Amino acid sequence: MKLVKILVAASLFVAAANANDVMQKSMSIMEKGMTQIQQGFLNNNLELIKQGTELVKEGNSLFSDKKVISQYLPENKKHMANVAENASKRIALDINVLELNLDTKSYVNAANAYSDMLNACSSCHSIVRNW
Ligand code: HEC
Repeated sequence: MKLVKILVAASLFVAAANANDVMQKSMSIMEKGMTQIQQGFLNNNLELIKQGTELVKEGNSLFSDKKVISQYLPENKKHMANVAENASKRIALDINVLELNLDTKSYVNAANAYSDMLNACSSCHSIVRNW
């Protein structure tokens, strides 16, 4: 009986640890944000673009520290931590560009900043996933 309780407690702990994983949290927030931005541009819904941008900003800030990023790189890619970190910096910069262009109603340029953000996602994923 005791052993069962310990096992249940241990599995709950593992589940909680996974849910709190900073990478998974960051990625799921950014994924949601990017989806909203895309929907916003496709449907000409400014509010959705702004909401999505806030989400990507939040998610990116969770996964922008080189030490944190490095923990998630495979052993043979640790030396590319700088390049991975640059992808996160590029996202932060694109968010600024996107917001500035929204302010001046330069929607084509804002949409281009969104595309560049998506490329930055892929540029880090390509390192992590050996694409
Ligand atoms: C600095 C590196 C980096 C950047 C930038 C980055 N990611 Fe990730 N992403 C990772 C890592 C590491 C993983 C986990 C390994 C894997 O899935 O291959 C991951 C996985 C994911 C996953 C799968 C989540 C999971 O739980 O397995 C999604 C979705 C995702 N990223 C979305 C995004 C989006 C959207 C962006 C851009 C806005 C982005 N990522 C930018 C590093 C990054």
